[in-house]
Amino acid sequence: MSANIIDGKAFALGLRERIAAQVANFVAAAGRKPGLAVVLVGEDPASAVYVRSKGKATVAAGMASFEHRLPADVAQDELLALVDTLNADPAVDGILVQLPLPGHLDELAVTTRIDPDKDVDGFHPVNAGRLATGLEGFVPCTPLGCVMLLKDQLGDLTGLDAVVIGRSNIVGKPMAQLLLKESCTVTIAHSRTRDLSSVVKRADIVVAAVGRAEMVKGEWIKPGATVIDVGINRTATGLVGDVDFAGAASVAGAITPVPGGVGPMTIAVLLRNTLVSAGRREG
Ligand code: GUN
Repeated sequence: MSANIIDGKAFALGLRERIAAQVANFVAAAGRKPGLAVVLVGEDPASAVYVRSKGKATVAAGMASFEHRLPADVAQDELLALVDTLNADPAVDGILVQLPLPGHLDELAVTTRIDPDKDVDGFHPVNAGRLATGLEGFVPCTPLGCVMLLKDQLGDLTGLDAVVIGRSNIVGKPMAQLLLKESCTVTIAHSRTRDLSSVVKRADIVVAAVGRAEMVKGEWIKPGATVIDVGINRTATGLVGDVDFAGAASVAGAITPVPGGVGPMTIAVLLRNTLVSAGRREG
C-alpha cells in the first residue's frame, strides 16, 4: 500500500485565494483593509525569513502589513510599549510577535500584553482558556491548519483514535483540544511516554510535533492511518519531519510531506485569523 500524499501547499494556496476574495468584500464594506502587525526582535535569520513571508502573504491577500523591527538588545519595557501602541491602533486587527525572543526578554509577559482580541497567533492564555472551554477566540495557526487538512482528508473525525506526540502550548496542547472538539478519542504522548510505539499503533490519526528528526517509525503506524507531520528539522541531508516519511508512507492511508505539508498552512491560517479579527472588530 502506498499513502496518499497530502498536498498542504495546494490546500493553503486555495485557502489564501478564498481569503483574498473575502478581504475584497471586507474592504468594500468597511472602507479599510484588515491589518496585521508583525514584530521581529533581533536578526535571527530563520525568524527574518518567516516574517518576510508573512508580510508578503498579507499584502498578497489584500491586507495591510505593518512590520516592526527592533534591535536584539531592546529593553523589555520598549517592546511592551510597542505592543501597547499596536493594541490601541484601530488599523491593526492582528498582532504577532515572532518567537523565539532573545533570552533577556520574557516571552510570556510579551504574549500576555497583546490584546487577546488581536492575538491572531492564539498564544495568549485567555485564548488557550477559550479554546479549552469552547468559547470563541483565536486558535493557534499550525494546529488549526492540521485540523483543516484532516477534515479535508477524512471528513467527519468523530470517534477516531488520535495521538498527538508533543505537548507544547503552541502545537501539542491546542491540537489535542481541537481533536477533542471534533469528538476524537485523544491521547497526548510526549518524550516521557512509555512504549510510544504501541500508543501510536492504536491511532487512526497521528500528529507528530516533537521536533526530533524522523523519530516516529514506519512500523509504528497502523495500516491506513492518517499521519500529520508538524516537524521541520534541518539535517545534513536537508529538511526532514518528525516522521520517517518513506517508512510511514508505505503503511499509512495518507501523510503530509516535509516540506509542502503542514508548513504552508500556518501562514494561510494566520491570514484567516486576521480577517476573522477584522470582521469581529467591525462587528
Ligand atoms: N515562531 C515560529 N512559529 C511561530 C508562530 O507561528 N508565531 C510566532 N509568533 N512565532 C513563531
